[in-house]
Amino acid sequence: MSNIVIVGTQWGDEGKGKIVDLLAEYADLVVRFQGGNNAGHTMVVDGEQFISHLVPSGILQKKACLIGNGVVVDPAVLVEELDKLKDKGIDTGPALLKISEKAHVIMPYHKQIDLARERMKGDQKIGTTGRGIGPCYEDKASRRGIRFVELIDAEVFRETVRAVLEEKNFYLEHYLSAEPLDPEPIIDQYQGYAERLAPHVVNISIVMNQALKAGKQILFEGAQGTHLDIDHGTYPFVTSSNTVSGNACCGAGIGPKEITGVIGIVKAYTTRVGRGPFPTELFDEIGDTLQKKGAEFGATTGRKRRCGWLDTVLLRNAARLNGLTGLVITKLDVLDGLESLKICTGYAYNGETLDDFPASLKILGACKPVFETLPGWPEDISGIRKIGDLPKNARHYLDRIEELLETPIDIVSVGPGRDETIIINHPFT
Ligand code: GDP
Ligand code: IMO
Ligand code: MG
Repeated sequence: MSNIVIVGTQWGDEGKGKIVDLLAEYADLVVRFQGGNNAGHTMVVDGEQFISHLVPSGILQKKACLIGNGVVVDPAVLVEELDKLKDKGIDTGPALLKISEKAHVIMPYHKQIDLARERMKGDQKIGTTGRGIGPCYEDKASRRGIRFVELIDAEVFRETVRAVLEEKNFYLEHYLSAEPLDPEPIIDQYQGYAERLAPHVVNISIVMNQALKAGKQILFEGAQGTHLDIDHGTYPFVTSSNTVSGNACCGAGIGPKEITGVIGIVKAYTTRVGRGPFPTELFDEIGDTLQKKGAEFGATTGRKRRCGWLDTVLLRNAARLNGLTGLVITKLDVLDGLESLKICTGYAYNGETLDDFPASLKILGACKPVFETLPGWPEDISGIRKIGDLPKNARHYLDRIEELLETPIDIVSVGPGRDETIIINHPFT
């Protein structure tokens, strides 16, 4: 029996959606445990693209999909996503799609505060997705959030919204110079979502523990990436949840002894959306080539992703923080045709080489990557399905990653499609 956590190792958009969709074939349940609709997870099946923001990426494999207590849910986005899937003939009924009663609800004031704060910060902004993620987690931590269990109780919901808005409106008007909000239309609108979503609301910890007792397998779908983690990322240029594997337990309601493997998704180069340090960022034509060839646009906001070389200082940090048992290398095909490739193996700082990722942004900002150069390959590798058929230099690149991270590569992805994949060791078998 295997219960596997999938996490991003860089700054998000590593291709988690594709890999979760691929591995979901072998899982009985797929669970999101943190983040919200700041995530954009892409699946491509038979040439058709699906982008999921809240619904776990196991839905196309017709698996039970659970939204954990650690997720912040914008009900408007969830309802829209369920409608779209239904239009495509995909079952998202309450038997398959379940929401934790303890998941927090993103309210209109969360989005308003997120956007107004970013506007006010100007050049100093974080570059958030503007989806209200930070303000919702803030309310959770400060104990004035609204969970699904409150959303579906009309009386409690009404009273809570009226009370919370008194404070929010003061902050919106007098600090952020934004428009105050009238509670009554919000209460009416959310009542509609509550009626629609109530049949899906359950205690998912019980659902999972029953499944575990019955010998079923669980796949945990991380969102964002290790370096966007609120504790371990490039703070303050991070998201507001713990994105590392340890949070799979907390954000879903199971004990750590159930987890049997942790797979880190590694894009074959590095990207980042939004602001914040990025030591191996490229500002030349190679960076442009990676951006164009990799179609590096945010799946949620459509923003251009910043691109750079693979950074193994970052990845070693991710291997340790997540306890990675295996790696999946994605988008290796995007590197086809480059004459040579660079891998960052350390950071030069103040006459020394740092092997470990620094916490101080001041130090990180002054670090210069130390590169090692490897030969590229001219071939198109997108049609390859066996590791032994890859060009010698592509295998050499993968071997070097394994060596530097001291972690085995289980899967290599050579295209966005579910089948454009090379399996080396199947995590579920
Ligand atoms: P996620 O947030 O980690 O799920 O990743 P995104 O979906 O935001 O971004 C990954 C992008 O790369 C999507 O457009 C995928 O369809 C695409 N993709 C995933 N794996 C591969 C691959 O191996 N090769 C190529 N060319 N594209 C890939
Ligand atoms: P997936 O799951 C990439 C980034 C934002 C911003 C920072 C904070 O698709 O990999 P937030 O709205 O969370 O407060 O924004 O985090 N960010 C992501 N970047 N992929 C994501 O998700 C992201 N989710 C948030 O761009 O820099
Ligand atoms: Mg994404």
